[in-house]
Amino acid sequence: MLSKEENELLTRVHPGTPMGGLFRCYWIPALLSEEIPDPDGPPARVRLLGEDLVAFRDTQGKIGLLAEHCSHRGTSLFYGRNEEYGLRCIYHGWKYDVEGNVLETPAEPAGSQLKNKVHHTAYPCVEAGGMVFAYMGPREAVPVFPTYAWLGVPQNQIYIAKSLLECNYLQALDGDCDSSHLNYLHKIFKPDGRHGFLRHEDQSPAFEIDEMDFGFRVAAIRKIGPDKSYVRISQFVMPFIGCVPVGREVAGKLDGFKAVYQVPADDQSTWRYDFFFKWAKPMTKEDSSKRDFVGADYRKLRNIRNNYLQDRQAQKTVNFTGIEEFLNQDACATESMGSIVDRTREHLGVSDSYIIQVRRFLLKALRDFQAGRQPPGLVYDSTQADFSRIRCDVAYVSSDVSWRTLFEATVGQSEKA
Ligand code: FES
Ligand SMILES: [Fe+2]
Repeated sequence: MLSKEENELLTRVHPGTPMGGLFRCYWIPALLSEEIPDPDGPPARVRLLGEDLVAFRDTQGKIGLLAEHCSHRGTSLFYGRNEEYGLRCIYHGWKYDVEGNVLETPAEPAGSQLKNKVHHTAYPCVEAGGMVFAYMGPREAVPVFPTYAWLGVPQNQIYIAKSLLECNYLQALDGDCDSSHLNYLHKIFKPDGRHGFLRHEDQSPAFEIDEMDFGFRVAAIRKIGPDKSYVRISQFVMPFIGCVPVGREVAGKLDGFKAVYQVPADDQSTWRYDFFFKWAKPMTKEDSSKRDFVGADYRKLRNIRNNYLQDRQAQKTVNFTGIEEFLNQDACATESMGSIVDRTREHLGVSDSYIIQVRRFLLKALRDFQAGRQPPGLVYDSTQADFSRIRCDVAYVSSDVSWRTLFEATVGQSEKA
């Protein structure tokens, strides 16, 4: 449970809020590359941290992320003409480059200096792994772009499921830090009574949680013999990334995993990006079929307005929820709490201890940030940047070996698989 003030602090992300300020210190996903595939192609609307923005790819392929409303008199630049190295407003033709410079104000008299007096809001972008990341914080403190391992694999080894969650990001993040729901919300009834997708699921795991400089590392440890354990390692990475060990096992190692970004669109909604990848193999058609659960606008076809098309008969015989697709199941659990859940009314138990730790970590990061200290996980000197520890894996460990030692010793090995 949180106090009313703490809940407010953690959940509000609009410009001028403390958490909004903290999140703006990080490179965060703005949209998928596929939303603006072509130079001079149509722009895309982006709602991010409570701001309305427009993304476009200019003639040279450079990406611009501009405030949606024209600096002249506010017409939406979403309707603009993307032409010759800039985005031109359809009302009076003001033209902007990717950096927010006003290139032309054609309705003004020759010699007008107006364009030199105005700078339009524009955020720097980096494209990696099929996503466009933006930095919306102060220009004097741009961190090194985090080149996480999953952003470096070839595009055909990646697939990303983007969807809009109609609730605050923290509800979604709480769900990512809550492994006990796997046994209920995502349970599939198998004829043999097995859970469906967890390996060694019949052992109730012990959890060991390490606080790291970037967030947390969590090991779920299941005893599978008198002196052998099966360990699954997941991570929470600031500011809102959950790395989950969901890949297939090949010779006792994962062939990839997924990174889930819960990006606040505003206080009441969240862009969820499930970034799946394989270290060494292309994704198959079957692997990427999960995207069918959203429409072209990334809004879920099954949603709270149609009760996620819950099937009560299937709930008796097929799975725990009667709802198809785990992303819809997660959405139902978190959206049905309301857009911002009142955490003063929760009754947290032992199974929620990781959620409690992550919330404490976020609150501490926020208070440190307000006191002028550097937010966790950020690097400002590229020679100091090493993101190789940020990854998931599984391990089969005998009782005389520590999973931590094994994990540290194998950092980088999967990437070379
Ligand atoms: S409102 Fe955009 S050019 Fe006038
Ligand atoms: Fe889930």
